[in-house]
Amino acid sequence: MTATAREWWRDAVVYQVYPRSFADSDGDGMGDIPGLISRLDYLSGLGVDAIWISPFYESPLHDGGYDVSDYRSIDSRLGTMADVDVLIAQAHERGIRILMDIVPNHTSSEHRWFQELLRAAPGSPAWDRYIVREGKADDGPPNNWKSVFHGRGWSRIRQGDGTPTGYWYLHLFDTTQPDVNWDNADVHEEFVSTLRFWFDRGIDGFRIDVAHGLVKEAGLPDFAYPDAADDADATPAMFDEDVAHAPFWDQDGVHEIYREWRRVADEYDPPRVFCGETWVPNAERLARYQRPDELHTSFNFNYLEAGWDAAAMRTSIDETIANHARVGAPPTWVLSNHDVIRHRTRMAPLGSNGRPDLDRGLRRARAATLFTLALPGSMYIYQGEELGLPEVVDLPAEARQDPAWLRSGGTDGTRDGCRVPIPWSGTGPSYGFGPGEATWLPQPDDWRDMSVEAQQGLEGSTLELYRLALRVRREEPSLGDGPLEWLDAPEGVLAFRRTGEAGADVIAVVNVAETPAHLPADWGTTILVASGDDVAELSIDDGGAALALGPETAAWVRG
Ligand code: GLC
Repeated sequence: MTATAREWWRDAVVYQVYPRSFADSDGDGMGDIPGLISRLDYLSGLGVDAIWISPFYESPLHDGGYDVSDYRSIDSRLGTMADVDVLIAQAHERGIRILMDIVPNHTSSEHRWFQELLRAAPGSPAWDRYIVREGKADDGPPNNWKSVFHGRGWSRIRQGDGTPTGYWYLHLFDTTQPDVNWDNADVHEEFVSTLRFWFDRGIDGFRIDVAHGLVKEAGLPDFAYPDAADDADATPAMFDEDVAHAPFWDQDGVHEIYREWRRVADEYDPPRVFCGETWVPNAERLARYQRPDELHTSFNFNYLEAGWDAAAMRTSIDETIANHARVGAPPTWVLSNHDVIRHRTRMAPLGSNGRPDLDRGLRRARAATLFTLALPGSMYIYQGEELGLPEVVDLPAEARQDPAWLRSGGTDGTRDGCRVPIPWSGTGPSYGFGPGEATWLPQPDDWRDMSVEAQQGLEGSTLELYRLALRVRREEPSLGDGPLEWLDAPEGVLAFRRTGEAGADVIAVVNVAETPAHLPADWGTTILVASGDDVAELSIDDGGAALALGPETAAWVRG
């Protein structure tokens, strides 16, 4: 690793914990902070540098905690402030840094600010903290913006007795998530003092939720939705490139907010860091968030969207690296998180029965992860991907809680499928997730063999692959931050060299094709890590040897 301790974030491996689904200490079926503390040794053994924890603040949980009713207290189902202090101390003792999740685009409608608004007269200062407008003359909403979770992006403000007023509030997400007004000074002050509150408690930084959405175009103009998103039921998902140019995403004014935040983070020693959740149309727009006086890093979803396709992966990598180099920032890479289909399932080709072939999906996912871990920059791992968990696609409707599922009448909003509680052991109810049988989402019957216990120490298991890869990544000076050099490779194969200061080069290669690939002899035959066992050493004509890499397989080779 080449990044200095002070700039640890330049090549960190960050593990995302979705706390409700990670580990349950009290048997209520919901993961919690004491559960997470009890698994810190596991995370340390896995070899991660930091954890990012999705929100655990007080919340009515209409959007899995991304609807925050108090940014400075802990949801009592998840723990207490004292638990968080223990978590920070114990993680730091193990050399693991902690990133929390801040949600500045909207609050919960149960937040004291929104409650004050409901009690105050129209036009009073309490109203200015949210985006409130009068309806149109025809009694419709102020403009045509839609919610990412389906339906209208506006709801009418009602008086205490339920009588509708002529005013509407904006919610780009659920009706219980009113968007705050970043033109208001209270909003700036409140979030800055919230950042300080947590920085002072010792956390190392924040992931910023919907970081590209805070500022809306002046005048709130109607948006010309692309055709597919224009019928009443379709969703203008923020993940969709067609809506990336909307007047509510990626507005230039948002950068001023991050300049303000960066000044705060830099007052600390060591400086605190940010990673933005930025769904933007291309690598050039993404890099703008990483200018030297803004965020340290941002999620690079463009690579996640490239899928299992050699040409698209290569283009995304090249554009990302080139644009980040211009602003002096390291790229980040991510293949799974709590909002997208787990990459084992997403990358799986359809089998002859018309369903995803999960064996091949796992093969591809392991190869993609290994290849990606060798790229310059930092990498995010989502809990359970190190076990090779697939998406749970058949959750019963009554168990689902994704607000997009509820708002779309069950036609969209499948994010619960990647949030099913983690299997820790093969015995006992809830596969060791908690002491009891309860899990807030049901676990599939066949998860026993995928548990941590089942994979621990098992040669070739996905867990052991991740462990080995993270260890080698730490040990090899050429991996992490630094330059990359593409190598000419056979059709369907991507390969690059990372040059180490000590001359110990690593070549990372992935065979995306469905047939074996013969690698050039001058790449050598010393394998540091391989994603599968389909790698063979072949004798070649001049008496030397070369590697044959199986289909859908990746390897790190000593170059
Ligand atoms: C982000 C979160 C997602 C949440 C949304 C609204 O995209 O990752 O889970 O629903 O913001 O806060």
